Amino acid sequence: MNMSRRRFMGLAAGSGAAALLAGCGIRTAQTAELMASDLPAPKPFQVPLPIPPVKRPSRTDGTTDYYEVQQRETMAQILPGLDTPIMGYDGLFPGPTIESRSGRRTVVRHLNKLAVPIAVHLHGGHTPADSDGYPIDVVLPLNGDPHEWHHDGHLSAGDLSEGSRNYVYPMDQRAATLWYHDHRMDFTGPQVYRGLAGFHLVRDDEEDALPLPRGDREIPLMITDRSFAEDGSLRYPSNDPTLRHEPGVADSHMEGVVGDVMLVNGAPWPVLEVAAVQYRLRILNASNARRYQLALDPQPAGGRPFVQIGGDGGLLPSPIRHETIDIAPAERFDVVVDFSAYAPGQEITLLNRLDSGRMGSVVRFQVTRRERDDARVPDRLADYERLDPARAKVTRVWRFTRGRTGDHLGWAINGRMFDPARMDAQPRLGELEIWRFGTDLHHPVHVHLSPFQVIGRGGRLPGPFDAGWKDTVDVRPAEHVDVAVRFTEYSGRFLMHCHNLEHEDMGMMSAFETV
Ligand code: C2O
Ligand code: CU
Ligand code: CU
Repeated sequence: MNMSRRRFMGLAAGSGAAALLAGCGIRTAQTAELMASDLPAPKPFQVPLPIPPVKRPSRTDGTTDYYEVQQRETMAQILPGLDTPIMGYDGLFPGPTIESRSGRRTVVRHLNKLAVPIAVHLHGGHTPADSDGYPIDVVLPLNGDPHEWHHDGHLSAGDLSEGSRNYVYPMDQRAATLWYHDHRMDFTGPQVYRGLAGFHLVRDDEEDALPLPRGDREIPLMITDRSFAEDGSLRYPSNDPTLRHEPGVADSHMEGVVGDVMLVNGAPWPVLEVAAVQYRLRILNASNARRYQLALDPQPAGGRPFVQIGGDGGLLPSPIRHETIDIAPAERFDVVVDFSAYAPGQEITLLNRLDSGRMGSVVRFQVTRRERDDARVPDRLADYERLDPARAKVTRVWRFTRGRTGDHLGWAINGRMFDPARMDAQPRLGELEIWRFGTDLHHPVHVHLSPFQVIGRGGRLPGPFDAGWKDTVDVRPAEHVDVAVRFTEYSGRFLMHCHNLEHEDMGMMSAFETV
């Protein structure tokens, strides 16, 4: 047994008791295992909610906005009095928010100043294959020996860049809340966990014409859970995730990693001061594996406080009111909450009803003042093309289950674990298809390139959280979800996968080639 493996086993043993505990509390709502912190949790509701800075283009021309992002390790101050080493886009967690205009090309040059290869994926982007962050198309570290990585069997088959890469986004898509994150083969879980995630918003005229809350009344909320070691560093099951492919080691946290400190925009249980007016909240679940059921406490009179205006792929045709929001990893819910239902002085907590104790709350809103409010949520929000499943020519069935290749435990789709060289489907561009996702346990399923519409869940109508254009859908244990999808424009290799990042890293991805 080598040194690093022994260290890993030590860590795994240390988390055993916590894992058992987690087993009682969250087994039904989560497919995941708790990674417990080694230090007491910070007191909730002590720090202001950070808002990630909006990045300025380094240059623009008639058609394109150009950005440069440096990926580097920095110290973040997440817990009081402690430094946490993170990997950050521009050294930040969350990374800077990039804002694109629909129809204007965005080019982001990523410079890799980290010690490890990276791949950048724009989640929700309608992106040509060579800029989609295929897991073996990595950017090698700027300051390193590139040959070191050419021996990696997977990577050497990819399209390697040394030090930096230009990602080109045509942005020929409607306004929506996208996000960008790491997608490196086998290491997406640990690299996102250490901080590689940020918002990328697309705006367009249709949405801008609506009288929705805007400016400082439009708030991005990136929800993640993390755990910390005594020295303030992030705790993740292994320092070297490749070890998770070893037989016998693989089963620790293969269910998915959940933490015991709630972070919103990178801060633990933060507070946002609000006026007693409507706010637009762009909620993203960027957690590796945790699902949430969000609710407000106290509930305003009349109930159903979340007015959903958009999903993963932008505006809904008309708003939907919810009492709670069920959100799985990678999903986005764009909601308007009217704080005029509360009086100045009141505190409203965003709860997570899937958990009790401290993971049962997320962020707090403090109503500090009254202000004038001209915003309104119109009954009709956007033009919406409803896909007609009767026109589909092809139906494909994808089964998400536990997997095994030889001694390697992992997760499989249709019985096979991911192989970046194997294309599991060849959808024709422009043709409507029905994809059926079936599960053993919880699996949030994500499709690259084009959004889909949920047409059925468990053989019945779609659920309350399935509305609109989506790119990720939460498939519950022993359930199947049918979606209608039409890939357009770009031919090449793309991915469909489980967005529980530990499942993803342990094989639950499938490559398809659009033709
Ligand atoms: Cu957000 Cu392929 O991932
Ligand atoms: Cu994606
Ligand atoms: Cu999964």
